[in-house]
Amino acid sequence: MTLRIGLIGAGIMGADHARIFAEDVPGVTLQTICDADQNRARAAADASGAKHTGSDPLAVIADSAVDAVVIAAPDAFHAPLSLACIAAGKPVLCEKPLSQDVRECLAVLDAEERKGKRLVQVGFMRRFDPSYAELKSLLTRGELGKALIFHCFHRNVSPAYDFRAEMAISNSAPHEFDAARWMLDAEIATISVFRPPAGGAAAPVFMVLETTAGQLVNIEVNISAAYGYDVRGELVGEKGTASLRAPVNADVNLGLRQYSVYPADWRPRFVEAYRRQNQAWVNSVTTGKPNIGASAWDGYCSTAVAAAGVEALTTGRSVAVRQLARPRFYA
Ligand SMILES: NC(=O)c1ccc[n+]([C@@H]2O[C@H](COP(=O)([O-])OP(=O)(O)OC[C@H]3O[C@@H](n4cnc5c(N)ncnc54)[C@H](O)[C@@H]3O)[C@@H](O)[C@H]2O)c1
Repeated sequence: MTLRIGLIGAGIMGADHARIFAEDVPGVTLQTICDADQNRARAAADASGAKHTGSDPLAVIADSAVDAVVIAAPDAFHAPLSLACIAAGKPVLCEKPLSQDVRECLAVLDAEERKGKRLVQVGFMRRFDPSYAELKSLLTRGELGKALIFHCFHRNVSPAYDFRAEMAISNSAPHEFDAARWMLDAEIATISVFRPPAGGAAAPVFMVLETTAGQLVNIEVNISAAYGYDVRGELVGEKGTASLRAPVNADVNLGLRQYSVYPADWRPRFVEAYRRQNQAWVNSVTTGKPNIGASAWDGYCSTAVAAAGVEALTTGRSVAVRQLARPRFYA
């Protein structure tokens, strides 16, 4: 018995999900790959061996031959398509963010609770990254003592979409917001946003967050870092610190230099995280057992932080995150 997946959106991320399911996740069939651009759907289907292609996401969700759905279309489609999956009673792995709009996230929470079943997992795959998992495990085992500070850096070569500082906060930084909430086991209470005036229009965005447990998180999102795709993090505890280590496959010695190579984008850096995330999602859909993946509630929380962050950017003030108390349904 295999899980028949309908994949919506076959761009950079969707095509990568298709490859991961086809090559590295046992127990699934790629039933349909759907994209508004038929050529992209066809190319991803040919590369992954998917059975069908389509261009209508709602038809894919309604298809009785589709058991579960992956959404990798642009952000604006995440909440409407997740709502359609919930209405159809189908589990969905939805790329981050759940929505850039807090009200849309609340509509997803409301729909799930009314359905009485948690069907949405949000693609915050860093929870599954071996390096993030090691830091989390050091904290859980008490080896670092109490967590005090989490330093985070998120650097892209160049903007994947449009560059606006708001996008850095509402599209890129939710990864860091979720990772911080998950790592520190606390909610984000306030956020301040700074940009170096010397950086001009493409200046990095620098955020300082306080958690409800009294910890500090600083996040640099630099979408125009030029030198490579680079995600770093260092956890400062009472007794010691621990840093993320990105997978590096070779140290090169050449021409009187020693160096290693940065990937051009996120796919090589998080290849194992995506694989583990997708396998864990399939396992929990088929067994009914939960995994450590982000729920719709986690998706809502990171969007609530992003909304406060955009307000902090606009006003120049520290902004308190307006977030509901966690409903019992998401305990
Ligand atoms: N988890 C991660 O690390 C990660 C990394 C990159 C992107 N993402 C997220 O994945 C999503 C896709 O990003 P991308 O980089 O692949 O973008 P992309 O532009 O490369 O791909 C998006 C695809 O969706 C298609 N599309 C647009 N509207 C559609 C619709 N209504 N129905 C079906 N297909 C539609 C487009 O034709 C395109 O092929 C974004 O929401 C982004 O935030 C997540």
